[in-house]
Amino acid sequence: MTKQFPSYKSQSPIILSIDTSCDETAAAVTRGVVVLSNVIWSQAAAHAQFGGVMPSLAQRMHRERIDFVIDRAISKSQIPITKLSAVAVTAGPGLAIALEVGIAKAKELAGKYQLPLIPVNHIEGHVLSPLARPNITHNPSLNLRGEIKEDDIGLPNLGLVVSGGHTELILINKIGDYKILAKTLDDALGEALDKAARMLGLGYPGGAILEKMAKLGNPKIYPLPLPMARSEVKNSFSFSGLKTAFYRLTQRINRDSSISSGLSSRQIYDLSSAFQNRAFQHLERVIKNVIQNTPLPLFNQRGGSERVFLVGGGVAANMELRKRLRKIGKELGLKILFPYSTKLTGDNAAMIGIAAGLRYNPHNSLFATKYELVDRKPRWSVEEI
Ligand code: KG4
Ligand code: ZN
Repeated sequence: MTKQFPSYKSQSPIILSIDTSCDETAAAVTRGVVVLSNVIWSQAAAHAQFGGVMPSLAQRMHRERIDFVIDRAISKSQIPITKLSAVAVTAGPGLAIALEVGIAKAKELAGKYQLPLIPVNHIEGHVLSPLARPNITHNPSLNLRGEIKEDDIGLPNLGLVVSGGHTELILINKIGDYKILAKTLDDALGEALDKAARMLGLGYPGGAILEKMAKLGNPKIYPLPLPMARSEVKNSFSFSGLKTAFYRLTQRINRDSSISSGLSSRQIYDLSSAFQNRAFQHLERVIKNVIQNTPLPLFNQRGGSERVFLVGGGVAANMELRKRLRKIGKELGLKILFPYSTKLTGDNAAMIGIAAGLRYNPHNSLFATKYELVDRKPRWSVEEI
């Protein structure tokens, strides 16, 4: 049975979005690409004792926190719930039993308020997150209703997602039509940084703290191999060889150390710097190679003379990485865009609302299908949207 929804007005859709794909319980309200509220309750501290995310604990904590997080998102947005155009929820990829919590809640709310339910791919959310705008905006390509026209972002363009679970270079043909140009053969970049941080005793997740330590160190003190340096650069990233080399290196330094407590601060700074440097060098090398050697479709000139390159995901918060990607941008004529806040780089629901809003079409029957058809897709690829 097709549900009847309120007719579409010229206004951008106001969407309540939910993400429970991993260890952040998140809800947001967006109007088009404008973020009206973005509430994130991280469970990281609870999972830290296990050195990684425990799915059953994540599920329990999502269940305990989700109502509170949604209520906060709605009250902070100052939008009455009756004004919502739709509910959006992350359907995948992610932890199956964690995704389940958000999906069940989204169905409950969509049913209660008779709203369309939009399932969103988490990676699509990350890659489109640089298009999000704060509530007060002076961006001329954005009208006050929160619309971004495809012409204005120069599609087809490029995207990069660097998170704890994914490392993907993506061709964005148009919103909803993606092709993966390169992905990782093993660990994701964030996962590799977290593992290196753990070897140095920096806690979990350690990407951000590794960045701080690396800033104080010299990347040239300790030798580490550049991943896949001897092989011809292909359309793949790989971080597991670097991780193994780093493990051996830290073990050796620990063994030889004169300090009983293990590594000295100086050694931690230099080791962090060496690992981060090699991991980023590899990322840069593959990105450059793929972009230079892949015939890319022409992009719309209204996007400017440079092709737009959207960068999202937890590791996109890293300032050193941003600097290096901007340099690549200069060399290859790319206009690099990052999310405007670190509340949009790590897992959040605003990016899910933005992705849903950019594809929202009240006349599309996709949004009016039975809620039962919306189900968790733990391994959902961004190419299969
Ligand atoms: O996007 P995200 O919150 O979750 C996933 O979808 O995986 O990304 C989390 C990842 C973690 O690996 C975390 O260590 C990393 O992002 N991260 C960083 C920084 N902040 C978060 N890595 C490097 N530098 C940072 N400043
Ligand atoms: Zn994520």
